[in-house]
Amino acid sequence: MKAPANVKQSIDFLRQICKISALKSQMCGIFGYVGSRSDAGQLVVNGLKNLEYRGYDSWGVAQKHGSTVAVTKDTGKISSVNAEDFSEECGLAIAHTRWATHGGVTQQNAHPHLNSNSTIAVVHNGIIENYQELRNELMAKGHVFLSETDTEIIPHMIEEELRQTDDFASAVRNACHRFTGRYGILAFHTESNTLVATRTGSPLIVGVGDHGYFIASDIPAFMEHTKVVQYLDDGEMVVTDGQSILFTDLETGEEHPKREIEITWSVEEAQKGEYAHFMLKEIMEQKDSIARAVNQDEQQIQVIADAIRNAQGTFLVGCGTAHKACMAAEYFFSVVSGHHVNVTSAGEFKVHHHFLKPDSLLIVVSQSGETADVLEAMSIAKAKGAKVLAIVNVEGSTIDREADYTLLINAGPERAVASTKALTGQMAVLMMIAYAMVEKLHEGKTLLLNTVSMINDMLNPRYIALLEEVAEEIQHHEDLYIIGKSWNYPMALESAIKIQEVSYIHAEGFASSELKHGPIALIEEETPCIALVGNDEVTPDIISNTIELKARGARTIGIAPKNNEAFDTWIKVPDAGAAQAIVNIIPIQVLAYFLAVKRGKDPDMPRNLAKSVTVK
Ligand code: AGP
Repeated sequence: MKAPANVKQSIDFLRQICKISALKSQMCGIFGYVGSRSDAGQLVVNGLKNLEYRGYDSWGVAQKHGSTVAVTKDTGKISSVNAEDFSEECGLAIAHTRWATHGGVTQQNAHPHLNSNSTIAVVHNGIIENYQELRNELMAKGHVFLSETDTEIIPHMIEEELRQTDDFASAVRNACHRFTGRYGILAFHTESNTLVATRTGSPLIVGVGDHGYFIASDIPAFMEHTKVVQYLDDGEMVVTDGQSILFTDLETGEEHPKREIEITWSVEEAQKGEYAHFMLKEIMEQKDSIARAVNQDEQQIQVIADAIRNAQGTFLVGCGTAHKACMAAEYFFSVVSGHHVNVTSAGEFKVHHHFLKPDSLLIVVSQSGETADVLEAMSIAKAKGAKVLAIVNVEGSTIDREADYTLLINAGPERAVASTKALTGQMAVLMMIAYAMVEKLHEGKTLLLNTVSMINDMLNPRYIALLEEVAEEIQHHEDLYIIGKSWNYPMALESAIKIQEVSYIHAEGFASSELKHGPIALIEEETPCIALVGNDEVTPDIISNTIELKARGARTIGIAPKNNEAFDTWIKVPDAGAAQAIVNIIPIQVLAYFLAVKRGKDPDMPRNLAKSVTVK
């Protein structure tokens, strides 16, 4: 085949040279089981514990006992719940961890929710946008609501539909036709031994077990029972009695055949092991995860690089930490390949759609592959006829499946809410592409693999202890500033996110050159200021900005390959050249972790945050 001459040909070519998994993975606080096991209650409670990392404020379980439903729900943490308390014989149960959107954090608002005569139980992720209108309609028919949630209308609407049909699955389907919004729903009825799930926008995955079926928003819920999965796509419904399973189109009822897929993540990878928290485990794993990200098929990296070169405009989008990876890539493409790319936060992409052409390329970057703003950016690009390349961690996620082509970073499961190893994997992949654009893929790969071995040396117990000491010293400060220049500027922004989200310290990142245009007014005696420094042509500038901070009384902490009198404290990092941003962010991740722990916060589950942000 001739070398691809434009983005479309490149994507087609990529599809030919690489095996594309057509259907795969994951995502937020839903788990259900139906089958021949008699410990369904216990099983779903344990599964929920494996979904804890997503962030939630209440939990609940509904078990089918003969022709009655037993609901247990509460605010607080599922980790303190004893699964043994759910040992009554039961073959069908659903469970949920709720992150309050509609209605406060109360036991009453926790899922599952029931209908009027407690025969239908429902758990739900997402938002039913027209719930107020439907609630009024149902109240006019005599339905009484016990919670403030949008979810509670679901069992009541199914109850209404059951007046027209005897078939529970058909009633669920008809009820769903009344809902607008994005949702994932699990429901059962006391009159049948059937678990029904529907999905529009909120991920659901089926686990195929030896003794029944599991349905969850995320694979870790059932990973200890099975690694064989089937993915529910948007607009689909699945019905199972534990022995057989049927996937259909939610709208038409037409049957959809499904493949069974074996997932590659191991149970150990998804567990904390010897570490006190997932965040620390995932930080320490970077010596391996970056190497896995680098170990990509070289031909596909080259084709992607060529596609960027041929594209009429390349746009890079992501949210939060993934957006900072995109920002770093803007510098990689500029410095390494002399090529301009357009970077925006995915939530802002809508405003820039005018610049998209059918021959433009949108590169989306995401750990979870489920972020709503990123999905919206993808729809906008597709509507313009542009191609979408996804750089994601979770195989089979919605972004993976909806992109024209996906490059997996292979970081393994990332469970702490704070993204760490996914970021460095994303940056490594983007840097390789930048090198490939100037026919220097091997140079880029060698640089990154050398960086991996330097990170391996760096992450030793003495180094971690030094970072813990620094955290000890600065933990009581309520403001902290981080400066960077060139590719260390996005890392300063990322440092702020990391410190904010886990320690709740007010942290802000700046381009070091911006200090004198305003932020330096914030500096007081002993304010901790971290400078992210490399060993390149911008080093003198950022050193001089650090001296300015010190002159105003700041307590300066330099993360740099070389010590300098500008630093009150020096945290040594290896000299990684163009990969310095990847190296410099790692001590910050460790520091953020210790700041959280020392301030008595749980770094894995920060307040108000969820691992996957599936709402806009
Ligand atoms: C990272 O520490 C954050 N919790 C958050 O900013 C995250 O990076 C963002 O929500 C994007 O998520 P994604 O990578 O799964 O798309």
